[in-house]
Amino acid sequence: MKSVKPCTPMSCCRFYFKNNPSHNESQNSDTRSKRVMTPVLTVDASAGTAALQMTTVILAVCIRAGLESSCSWREIMLGVIPYLRTSLRRVLPSQAVELVRSFLSWRRSSYFLRQVNSWFAKQRPEIRYFGSGASPFAKQLSSVNVLRPTKMCRVMNEYGSDKGGLSSWHNYTTVYSALLKRYRNQPLRIFEIGLGSNNPEIPFTMRNGRPGASLRAWRELFPHAHVYGADIDRAVLFQEERIKTFYCDQLDQAVILQLWSQPDLQDPLDVIIDDGLHTFEGNTSFLEASLKHLSPGGLYVVEDIEQGTVPGWYDRIETIYSKRYPTYEFAFVVLPNPPNHCDNNLLVIRRAG
Ligand SMILES: C[S@@+](CC[C@H](N)C(=O)[O-])C[C@H]1O[C@@H](n2cnc3c(N)ncnc32)[C@H](O)[C@@H]1O
Repeated sequence: MKSVKPCTPMSCCRFYFKNNPSHNESQNSDTRSKRVMTPVLTVDASAGTAALQMTTVILAVCIRAGLESSCSWREIMLGVIPYLRTSLRRVLPSQAVELVRSFLSWRRSSYFLRQVNSWFAKQRPEIRYFGSGASPFAKQLSSVNVLRPTKMCRVMNEYGSDKGGLSSWHNYTTVYSALLKRYRNQPLRIFEIGLGSNNPEIPFTMRNGRPGASLRAWRELFPHAHVYGADIDRAVLFQEERIKTFYCDQLDQAVILQLWSQPDLQDPLDVIIDDGLHTFEGNTSFLEASLKHLSPGGLYVVEDIEQGTVPGWYDRIETIYSKRYPTYEFAFVVLPNPPNHCDNNLLVIRRAG
């Protein structure tokens, strides 16, 4: 195995997150504290005092919000909710707190409630196009509501992939559902690098994940598809009905060439996904050797692009890729997802049809 860039919390958020379950929570509270700075209060045990303190805090946050015209209602709520939570915990009996907690966790992951919520609430991804931005591909991307859970979100979740969005670190399936709708009953040829190894020695492994999760989900979602995959961890390679996987180290050009010389991969692919080594070097190395294997109209997607590498990507696309690949459209997609401000970004590339 070739050596890879060492993973640090900032350079490799998903790896860090997967190995540090507390990260999610601490990141949330960090973000909140940055948005609305409110005084720290110790809530007294008596219900009356707790209610009084709660009201004071709500008032304080509202006054502060009024003074800062840039402060939105969402920011106000982010300031108020922790105090509300603490106070309710004091006031309610412990069984009631447990009940509320279970209800909230069910509500967060409930597919049906999210569906209902998405009829009223809409949130679009932020998209930067490299090209006209007026193509049907661009329109399709702009129409995505990231709050609307799809069947694909549910199926990815069920199989154990983290693309699925329902209480998940990434919500890419809302975008994939829109982009891949037309392949539903087609003999789709889809390839994904990164199977979901559990080996802690390998970067970007899924500590408690299920190897092959996304490949099996693609097979279920597209009943006529042929699904291909590759990974650097030989231990997770497998062959099943309509699924074939191969060894690949995406930093090694010779190995990538060998991958693309496999007899099963000679016909062009409709979709290629990079969910393997999430570094700029790893992504560009695989992209440059693989883009030509897309079919006309096909899509290439790079997942989990870290916030810190975004300027590097813009520069690479503007100065090199848009000239080297004039028949491809590039779109950089930032998906809103409250628990993840770190790497919930996609690069979506479409080859002209
Ligand atoms: C996040 S996991 C993939 C998850 C999977 N696609 C899913 O959705 O369930 C990332 C995978 O990238 C693989 N990987 C890490 N470095 C790699 C490299 N240099 N070349 C190919 N795969 C690599 C890891 O072994 C791991 O299985």
